[in-house]
Amino acid sequence: MFDDIQKLEEQAVQAINKAMDLDTLRKIETEYTGKKGSITLLLKGLGKMAPEERKAAGMACNNAKQAVLSASEFRKNEITENEIKKQLDAPGFDPTLPSIPVKQMSGNFHPVSTISFSVEKVFEKLGFKIPDYFEVESEWFNFEALNIPGDHPARDMQDTFWLKNGSLLRTHTSPGQARAMKEFKPPFRAIFPGRVFRYERTDASHEHTFHQVEGLMIDKNLSVSNLIAIMKLLLEAIFEQEITIRLRPGYFPFVEPGFELDIQCMTCGGSGCPVCKHSGWVELLPCGLVHPEVLKAGGLDPDEWTGWAFGLGLTRLAMMKYKINHITHFMSGDLRFLSQFKAGGAR
Ligand code: PHE
Repeated sequence: MFDDIQKLEEQAVQAINKAMDLDTLRKIETEYTGKKGSITLLLKGLGKMAPEERKAAGMACNNAKQAVLSASEFRKNEITENEIKKQLDAPGFDPTLPSIPVKQMSGNFHPVSTISFSVEKVFEKLGFKIPDYFEVESEWFNFEALNIPGDHPARDMQDTFWLKNGSLLRTHTSPGQARAMKEFKPPFRAIFPGRVFRYERTDASHEHTFHQVEGLMIDKNLSVSNLIAIMKLLLEAIFEQEITIRLRPGYFPFVEPGFELDIQCMTCGGSGCPVCKHSGWVELLPCGLVHPEVLKAGGLDPDEWTGWAFGLGLTRLAMMKYKINHITHFMSGDLRFLSQFKAGGAR
């Protein structure tokens, strides 16, 4: 028995020392110490021995196993070192070349992330929850629950990517409205930022994938003035200056009344320039009071609860804040574009 163990160990170590690559090494290890390896089988056979011999034989087996494993570990290091040495000696490899400066390698947040974080910061302080909802949505949450039935012309406002199983890629962050109403006990306030998708032709200001943040507040007796106050607070925090806003009527089936919120042009201060097409105002975001049908879809009684909602285009906001003229830069992955936005979003 002891001779067998000794022989196995010698054989294994010899094979290991001859191994030239890690694959072979792994195979040898398994052959001797794996589940069905020859040393393992010896160990398993110990049960048949007389108790007084068993202990010594067991120890010998275990020692042999350890010896094989450490020989293998040693050889592994040798092989790896040889590999590295071979690469270093290869013609054309110059280990003295300077590396890429750390400064150039360090990453930074994507401008849309930076804008999203600053919006989140404002709302977090006001007690808003920030749930993360789904990019793949059901037709019900994306349309029906928002008072947009199948034959409603408003479906044409947003061309949709449909999936084979009948789900869709959300065309806006608004499906989160009914989800939040079902998730949180009223009164509550929440924002949900995220990616949205539209089956659209792309140009300087349209992209099939972009970012929005939805805001939703549910309480008793909420009014438009409440919405205006919060919007002003948000925009002044983002643009870090005083902002003048105005509301125009706007149509969305899920708000009543619905508005388009404009801000006074920050480039000309309202006197008219090419940025605001000489109107003095720039359209920024749609908003309104939550439609009773949407409250019902979210399981709330419209006689008891009221709400307001807004949908802010984060990508557009980033374009305005950083004066970016073409939306496709955002998803280009071009480091020359991305590395302009260092921490904090300042250019
Ligand atoms: N979901 C609308 C869109 O993407 C925006 C919106 C949100 C309008 C909330 C009103 C209220 O076009």
